[in-house]
Amino acid sequence: MKKIAFIAAGMLAAFSAFAQPQLSADNIDEIIKAMTLEEKVTLLVGGSRAVNINGVPSGTTDLVPGAAGVTRAVPRLGIPQTVLADGPAGVRINPTRKNDPQTYYATAFPVGTSLATTWNLDLVNEVTVAMGQEVLEFGVDVLLAPGMNIHRNVLCGRNFEYFSEDPFLSGKMAAAYVKGIQSNGVGTSVKHYAANNQETNRHENDSRVSQRALREIYLKNFEIAIKESNPWTVMSSYNVLNGEYTQQSYDLLTTILREEWGWDGIVMTDWGNKLGTVKSVKAGNDVMEPGNQNEMERIIAGVKNGEITQEELDRNVRNMLEYIVKTPRFKGYAYSNKPDTDAHTALVRKAGAEGMVLLKNNDVLPLSGDEKIGLWGVSSYDFIAGGTGSGHVNKKYIRNVQEGFEGNGVTVASAPASWYKKYIAYTEETMANNGIGGGWGKPVLPEVEVSLNFVKKVEAATDVAVITIGRNAGEGGDRKNGQGDFRLNAVEVANLQNICDVYHKAGKKVVVVLNIGGVIETASWKHLPDAILLAWQPGMEGGASVADVLLGKVNPSGKLATTFPMEYLDNPSSHNFPYDYGTAQMRGNRGPAAPRKNVDYTAYEEGIYVGYRYFTTAGVEVSYPFGYGLSYTTFAYSRPVVKATQDGFTATITVTNTGKVAGKEAVQVYVTAPAGGLDKPALELKAFAKTGELAPGESQTLTMTVDNYGIASFNEANSAWEAPAGVYKVHFAASVADIRATADYKLKTAKTWKVNNVLAPAEPVNEIKIK
Ligand code: BGC
Repeated sequence: MKKIAFIAAGMLAAFSAFAQPQLSADNIDEIIKAMTLEEKVTLLVGGSRAVNINGVPSGTTDLVPGAAGVTRAVPRLGIPQTVLADGPAGVRINPTRKNDPQTYYATAFPVGTSLATTWNLDLVNEVTVAMGQEVLEFGVDVLLAPGMNIHRNVLCGRNFEYFSEDPFLSGKMAAAYVKGIQSNGVGTSVKHYAANNQETNRHENDSRVSQRALREIYLKNFEIAIKESNPWTVMSSYNVLNGEYTQQSYDLLTTILREEWGWDGIVMTDWGNKLGTVKSVKAGNDVMEPGNQNEMERIIAGVKNGEITQEELDRNVRNMLEYIVKTPRFKGYAYSNKPDTDAHTALVRKAGAEGMVLLKNNDVLPLSGDEKIGLWGVSSYDFIAGGTGSGHVNKKYIRNVQEGFEGNGVTVASAPASWYKKYIAYTEETMANNGIGGGWGKPVLPEVEVSLNFVKKVEAATDVAVITIGRNAGEGGDRKNGQGDFRLNAVEVANLQNICDVYHKAGKKVVVVLNIGGVIETASWKHLPDAILLAWQPGMEGGASVADVLLGKVNPSGKLATTFPMEYLDNPSSHNFPYDYGTAQMRGNRGPAAPRKNVDYTAYEEGIYVGYRYFTTAGVEVSYPFGYGLSYTTFAYSRPVVKATQDGFTATITVTNTGKVAGKEAVQVYVTAPAGGLDKPALELKAFAKTGELAPGESQTLTMTVDNYGIASFNEANSAWEAPAGVYKVHFAASVADIRATADYKLKTAKTWKVNNVLAPAEPVNEIKIK
């Protein structure tokens, strides 16, 4: 009897295996044929918010608690669910789990802005190879990163997640990032595609951008990353672009992304349900995240009533299956939940230090290490590793500046340390009691006033003052052009003034450390301290990285990837940015029916003149220019060599360390196009390279390649990229304001690349003209 039952079960299994093909990399056609409509739609709608097929949920983030989303399973056909987690500064998952003594802390790496200011693609690769190992070992299939929107305006609340105001630097950084993560056999989702440059009304705001600005600035970085690194996925953004939601734009998701750029991965929505799911499917947005039942029903109805064709449905399903077969979950990878976090924190310390930018140094840094430090500012003791929102990483600890100094054997005065810590404990408790903080990270604690007497007492017992100024921001809100945010507040100014007065009177120096995620105003106070180190939000070892740089264990080599203006309004995008959203003045100006500028729509009237493209062309003074950063040594640049190649040129220069300590130099190549034709920025970054650590007297020759397509501009009249014939000036520079050598590149015949005439705004954008 037993034997018969056994044979029958075996036959059944054989039969069902025969009747129900199981997904493999080679039978995707067969699987598509075998799928019911419901099963196909199951793949096109994520499963984090209880989406059911025939009453049965087929996806849940419980698989990796704290992950942002999943794609759903079809068990009958051997299709597993896959797991998606944020990004970009590390894997964002819950650190603890119910009834489980083990912890799941991920490494908090430096934020995107900090990585960009390293100008070191190899280092970004090293960081992301490590981060990708955490993605894999925590059982995640796709990291929802990198964030790569352009720093159009310094107050965008998510700038810390993004790289730069320059599309070339941003694109190269993103490509290095994607390659590093994906080298682990897991995926990335470059986000947020596209023109998602503010958080105010981010779900509905219409970015109104000219075709030229779109192509040259807001799509260029994605184009570089897509073509160079082939990310598994792209995340469409929340916002509207020239009248259409990006996730519903066929021209953005199919015409440009797939047909022009030749990419074949999957597009997922950002995390919000929009009406018009049918349009998203048709546009080539393969999966709705995090997914809900309405979306499932809308797609099924769309297929049944013919709005979605069978080809469109199957195209997206095929994309999904091609993605799924690449994932570790499909391959049955046995993840450990134990990535090598010790090695990774050492890397955070190194990378965080390399992203730091020395803005000012009046004969004080590096410290000798023998000084006793008077350490001021709340953020010195409550250091900020990264920003808030979905970019917040649940890490085990954050190393503060005091610990950083002490770990390097340097003494920090105890009186301010214990005073600040009491304040921090009290403020945190009050915040927690009021429900502030939690899973998305806490806001920066308000600065506290130090009395002149206290400063004097501490000064008498210390040799140098270090003051940390902190800022934090994140998803869901933009920063303010006001005190305590873009500007220092009254307490910060008073403390800085008092500490500088007291220490300077005693012949002692003051160093300011900026622990910030985005640009702040520096012009009004930078004369006060003797040195300023821009530390950014450098990850969980931040205090150690700061101390390493201040003590000269690491020679700073970071350079700005975004301009620090003199004044907020100097940046032309500021006239079309919701910096005062929410103020009484703005609310009062609102007509009840009229769309509100910068809330319902934002006109990108600065066109291509974003960041240094504007400041250098208009000749407007800045506080710290793009590409700027000091070192403890000096570098000389040789005579440059520019050589034509078949489709562009190579730019070669030899850099020599002419100072007394070892250091690295990031060389930037800016191009000035020949006059005539289209309006052009004075300078545009077209290549960069960083030397290795050069010993005093040591030289290194750097050769960079630029192709003609890279120096072309977009001519809307012809829907074409055009590089006119003529002489291009090729500048080798230490910053956009510090050109060290120039050579010519002669393009003998004009070059043209015709593309599709798509994504035009309904009305021309009234762009500024610079004479
Ligand atoms: C953010 C994305 C993030 C997603 C999942 C969204 O609100 O805009 O950047 O990846 O949430 O957490």
